[in-house]
Amino acid sequence: MTTNTKSLTTLFLLLSLLCSCTRQAPRFVIGISQCSADIWREKQNAEMRMAAYSHKDIELRFASAHDSDERQVQQIDSLLATGIDLLIVAPNQVQTITPAIDRAYDSGIPVIVFERKTNSRKYTAFMSADNYEMGRVMGEHIATQLHGKGHVLEVKGLKGSSPAIERHKGFMDALSGYPSITIVDTLQGDWTEQSAYDAMARWLSNHADTPIDYVFGQNDRMAMGARRAVANAQRSTLNATLYCGIDGLPDENGGIRLVRDSILDASYIYPTYGDRLLQQALDILEGKPYDKEVKMMSAIVTRDNADVLLMQSDEIMHQTAYLEQLHQQADSYLKQLDAQRISTWLSVGLILLLLLFIVFIYYYFLQKARLAQERTRLEREQLDFYTQVSHELRTPLTLIEGPLAQLAETRDIQEASPEAAGMFDIVRRNTHQLTALVSKMLDQQHTKEPPGNETIQLSESTLPSAAPATADTTDDTTDENAAATLLIVDDNADIRTYLRTILQGRYQLLEAADGQEGLKTAREQVPDLIVSDVMMPVMNGLEFCQQVKDDMATSHIPVILLTARALNQHQIEGYRSGADAYITKPFQADLLLARIENLLHSRLRLKSLFGSAEPAQKTAAEVPQDPFIDKFRSVVEGNMSNSELSVEEISAEMGLSRVQLYRKVKALTGQTPNEQLRKARLIRGKKLLATTDLTISEVAYQVGFTAPSYFTKCFKDEFGVLPGEARKD
Ligand code: FRU
Repeated sequence: MTTNTKSLTTLFLLLSLLCSCTRQAPRFVIGISQCSADIWREKQNAEMRMAAYSHKDIELRFASAHDSDERQVQQIDSLLATGIDLLIVAPNQVQTITPAIDRAYDSGIPVIVFERKTNSRKYTAFMSADNYEMGRVMGEHIATQLHGKGHVLEVKGLKGSSPAIERHKGFMDALSGYPSITIVDTLQGDWTEQSAYDAMARWLSNHADTPIDYVFGQNDRMAMGARRAVANAQRSTLNATLYCGIDGLPDENGGIRLVRDSILDASYIYPTYGDRLLQQALDILEGKPYDKEVKMMSAIVTRDNADVLLMQSDEIMHQTAYLEQLHQQADSYLKQLDAQRISTWLSVGLILLLLLFIVFIYYYFLQKARLAQERTRLEREQLDFYTQVSHELRTPLTLIEGPLAQLAETRDIQEASPEAAGMFDIVRRNTHQLTALVSKMLDQQHTKEPPGNETIQLSESTLPSAAPATADTTDDTTDENAAATLLIVDDNADIRTYLRTILQGRYQLLEAADGQEGLKTAREQVPDLIVSDVMMPVMNGLEFCQQVKDDMATSHIPVILLTARALNQHQIEGYRSGADAYITKPFQADLLLARIENLLHSRLRLKSLFGSAEPAQKTAAEVPQDPFIDKFRSVVEGNMSNSELSVEEISAEMGLSRVQLYRKVKALTGQTPNEQLRKARLIRGKKLLATTDLTISEVAYQVGFTAPSYFTKCFKDEFGVLPGEARKD
């Protein structure tokens, strides 16, 4: 899986987690199909909504047919199609809606028919007030109000709706017991105020002289519509006519208030009971026991009880409003909580993504660093390889170029046939060209050189060679004219042979095949100069040079590093290790010779390791600070009066061999240790003569001479004056 896919998966998981946290699928979906849209239905819907608040997992889906049968049928079917769990339906008319309700019931969901009836038994429960009883009670009330005598007009509700049929029946039955009451007419309305107004207005225009003492509207709205029509007709009997209706709503224009204000004579509370309806639905859905037929209790509203009923319903409405407010508050808190939860999860998600990003970046850079490291390593390996190859090439090139140069100087070649001389020339020119190519190759490589110091440890040659450290001649005599001793350190036997060809006859030669062997020889023989290769097995030339320079016995020996390592960096390393010269292969024999000569001659020869006898001159200014010189001086000066003091004793005390001491002193001063010892005695003697009153003899003994006459002779030889002349003034 790529990092991108991983990130997307994480994001998706987070988002689904978020969604699952905020939105809950409802446990039950209840569809409510209302036949009409009016204040009575609104009140009922509001009650159901309120009741559903305490059940967070209930979803209510409302639909209103606005008194249209077709519309209600359609709405029931679409509610079913959305997948409701239960249907509550108030059918517009008995006949027309029945098939749709039957379909719902047959689909397997529970159906509660409420308030209006169907002509089928296909319902789970039926809830309604007793509409017959309502009509009957209102008939009785009218009869009472009219004292059993008068003219009554009825305005009926929607023709095919069960309340209209039942209320009419109850009403008629009640009035049939009062023969002096005449029902002047029964008008057809459709539950709306306007329908009653229209019907009444029409009737009035045809019955201008028919008296009406009481109008019974099957609901309050229709009673008010009839009243408006009567008022509009400006009949003289207006004030005498009484009106009653049904519904008894507590609202601003509801029946109870109208009765209290004597606009209506009476009303009947037609209970909405939305909360009980919802509870019934839940009981059915949850499989709890329930009553299949529920009759909702109710009562008549007259001027006697209107005030009390209004007070009670005002209180209920007040409480309901308060509950609604509480609910809204709780709802807004819940929304806030939801928002907070979402933001928390989003933050967590973002942090996780950020972490993921950081980890990704970390691995990216880690990988990058690894690659860079690997590249550096490869480059270094490449450079090492080139260095080695060039080294391998330069060594044989030296062994071709050098001898060729020497051969060129011999007469044989010059006197050879022109063809031979020509061919010899071709060989020489091509050897030069090859050398130039090798140098160029190394130079190019040099520009790609990776940073850092080179630590190349390579065997310089594959040629088998292990020449023992042999001294051509070793000489520790004091012979000033003896040739200087050179130590050649190189693992390539051919190179050693070639060097020997160049150097022998001029110098005494010592040879060693690697640094370690060279170091041993250098310590034992203390040569005057060392020519060493750099790349050698066991101990390379750089380390060898370093050790030579660190050893008191050999530190003075000039070292020429002779190598194929042509790069600047290599030369810097060479000088850092203390080398005095650096000559790259292939080299010119005369260049090497000149360099050797030069180094041997430019050696700083000190007259004395003991400074001058002149008091004005400071010893420190003349004699360089050197651990060897310091030690030699302290040993000699500490034993000045000992005439027996020998070179063996001094060297033993200094931790050096006799040869080492001899060579070192000789190299530094050109004199033997004995000569330096005598010189030390004489310088001390001269100081004593100049600064004390001691006699010449006393001074001579004090500085280790056994005979004052010999002291005098040596003194004259050294300083050119007699001791007496050196006395203080
Ligand atoms: C409300 C209503 C009431 C009436 C009832 C009859 O829609 O018209 O006014 O009492 O329906 O079903």
